[in-house]
Amino acid sequence: MKRLAVFASGTGSNFEAIADACADGRLNAEVVLMVCDKPDAPVVGKAAARAVPSFVFSPKDYPSKAAYESEIAALLDKAGVDLVCLAGYMRIVGEVLLKAYEGRIINIHPSLLPAFKGAHAVEQAVAYGVKVYGISIHYVNSDLDGGRIIAQRAFEYEGSDPAEVHRIGQKIEHQLYIETIAKLLK
Ligand code: GAR
Repeated sequence: MKRLAVFASGTGSNFEAIADACADGRLNAEVVLMVCDKPDAPVVGKAAARAVPSFVFSPKDYPSKAAYESEIAALLDKAGVDLVCLAGYMRIVGEVLLKAYEGRIINIHPSLLPAFKGAHAVEQAVAYGVKVYGISIHYVNSDLDGGRIIAQRAFEYEGSDPAEVHRIGQKIEHQLYIETIAKLLK
């Protein structure tokens, strides 16, 4: 059974999807660590409800990104993590984590990369007026949302409501992330 870590900063619906797929056997894996940089994020309670061990921290309590990433890397090592899944973790991964885990860190992003990188991809795509949206899963490297693409799925949407795009996109995210993790773990 493979060992996953999930990093999140917010709602945690992708965390839930991954944890549930582990629990019901769709993924032959276990979430052994949830990492969150926002102590009041809803994902913290979701991890607790599933008894998934968590590392919840405030970046402002550390002198540098390297300092908190060293602590995270030590926890990943200790937990024997095979794959790190970023799921709405709204921080750029730094040198320390990349040095230790590059090639084993993946991210899900709500656009068809390389279009609309960054934190407001859906809003930017709606403002641009695109008619085909999508979800990308990619390896994480030092370029923001720039690592090699592993999987993408597109959908058409003619309207102009970002909340609706998020809703449609998240359903796709939850399926695509599980399918992609399953392939990578094989
Ligand atoms: C997801 O839609 C994910 O694609 C996005 O954050 C959301 C987290 O939702 N990530 C990014 O925008 C990364 N640049 P969740 O907390 O419900 O899983």
